[in-house]
Amino acid sequence: MCGIAGYIGFRRADEVIISALKRLEYRGYDSWGVAVRHENEIRLIKRMGAIGDEKTYSVAEGNAGIGHTRWATHGKPSEINAHPHTDCSGKIAVVHNGIISNFQSLKEELESRGHVFSSETDTEVISHLIEEFYKGDLREAVEKTIGRLKGSYALVVMHAEKDELVAARYKSPLVLGVGDDELIIASDVPAILDYTSRVVYLEDGDLLVLMKGDFEIFSDGRKVNRKVETIPWSIEDAEKGGYEHFMLKEIHEIPRVIEDTLFEYLSDDIEIDISFAAGVSEVTFIACGTSYHASLIGKHLIEKLAGIPVRVEFASEFIYHQPPMHRTLAIAITQSGETADTLEAMRIAKKLGARTLAIVNVLGSTATRIADHVLYTRAGPEISVAATKSFIAQLIVLYLVALKLSGMTKSEMEGLLDELRIMPELVKGVLEHEDEIRAIAEKLSDYGNMMYIGRGIGVPIAMEGALKMKEISYIHAEAYPAGELKHGPFALLGERTPVIASLTPDETYEIMLGNIKEVKARESIVVAVTGHDDAEVEKYVDHVIRVPRTDALFTAVTHSVALQLLAYHTAKARGCEIDKPRNLAKSVTVE
Ligand code: M6R
Repeated sequence: MCGIAGYIGFRRADEVIISALKRLEYRGYDSWGVAVRHENEIRLIKRMGAIGDEKTYSVAEGNAGIGHTRWATHGKPSEINAHPHTDCSGKIAVVHNGIISNFQSLKEELESRGHVFSSETDTEVISHLIEEFYKGDLREAVEKTIGRLKGSYALVVMHAEKDELVAARYKSPLVLGVGDDELIIASDVPAILDYTSRVVYLEDGDLLVLMKGDFEIFSDGRKVNRKVETIPWSIEDAEKGGYEHFMLKEIHEIPRVIEDTLFEYLSDDIEIDISFAAGVSEVTFIACGTSYHASLIGKHLIEKLAGIPVRVEFASEFIYHQPPMHRTLAIAITQSGETADTLEAMRIAKKLGARTLAIVNVLGSTATRIADHVLYTRAGPEISVAATKSFIAQLIVLYLVALKLSGMTKSEMEGLLDELRIMPELVKGVLEHEDEIRAIAEKLSDYGNMMYIGRGIGVPIAMEGALKMKEISYIHAEAYPAGELKHGPFALLGERTPVIASLTPDETYEIMLGNIKEVKARESIVVAVTGHDDAEVEKYVDHVIRVPRTDALFTAVTHSVALQLLAYHTAKARGCEIDKPRNLAKSVTVE
């Protein structure tokens, strides 16, 4: 997720902006840049990597400027693609967060009128459009420009000839800090708190003009007033958006992450070109950890919807199999795109003749360079070691890939697509039950062992639920297909081993109730995760976590979010560190 900072006031703008960008580092970035207005010119610096020691940078003297930390989405991480972006005259500079979905057609239109682009970004169309509309009034030019944009944006613009910033927001956050004789605009509150705790949250459709010592907000062309609020948090709290841990913040971001990922690939139809998979007779997934569990769900979806046989391999084990793969589509799933085992397995799959597709969250990561084809998840940077929002984004891409591979007509898949479209709302429905989940978690927090069970798609849901529990709460949690319990794991059950059962509304439901009865006979406490409409379950179990009803295929999303919350609150009740669990790293770059 990119970070934006803009300043107008009495201090040196470059110093304020660079320190504000450092406050936004928690959002993740691969490059950064700052523009300052100096003697009727725009002075710019752009750099790859981290800001490091801010005292070593000086852009130019000037009291108005804008800056940006970039998390690449269109065009690889590079100095050229870093923001701010300028127009042909070099007089207009823009920083942008979000995705301009119609940038390609706008770019072609602008090029046909002689505009020359220097970057691969979607953002650069904004500076060139503003250049076309600018007739001495920056607000008017920005207003006309946003009328041409589709997608999402938070943007801040400056012109070399005036100490003035113009900002606009639509579906990407922007907050204004109101100090004494100074204004600072940013993507998030931590960038502002060093200067003021008085803020105005902009709303979708707002256009903001920042002048020395004053500001005006417009909506639908009319001046509006927005409340000035006082932030009661410390900077550290603010980085987490007021949540106690990044993990919880990231779980609460899931509805937006689903919207962003669907926005990328689903309009009227599924916008994924799957032609490279033509003629493949099987699919092999290669991945590790949570991404491996996403792969198991992918197997379930592809086999069920597309009827193509699917294997799922731990990337670290695939290395020793090396099967012939001439008619195979190898799908690597990796949040970071840097997991060493997954990268090695991808290289081997290619050597063995597979076509390779990578489902990745980090643009420009090594996996994207190895794979023949790439689909990005739009989870944004994930800070907590525990994968939560990135896992759900992987699932959303997998639903779309499986539906695309199925060859179903648009009308045949419409019911499932409709359900996918309401998934952000369904997840909000899970999050609404957080208090009940917390109460159950507190009861579970004293146990040393747990068993997760499911059937069908419930098995990988259980596996991921157990992984979340063990990695952050340090409780030993195992996952088993419910039918396997009697082949050994029953010996572990008893009153000190709670069982978490995922009940899905399909042919497995009745037999799962039977398995739960068997578990209860061994005196284990049972927590069921099931739909709101499940009237039966209360008779069989000790605690119920209710989630909105969906087709069984989509329970992978709703149940997983509930189990992420269960793990989080259990770990919290045990006083665990949560965001950085012992012995674990976010990106595992060794084999
Ligand atoms: O970046 P990747 O998706 O390739 O990472 C794979 C695993 O290391 C990762 O999913 C890990 O299991 C999670 N952090 C667990 O929450």
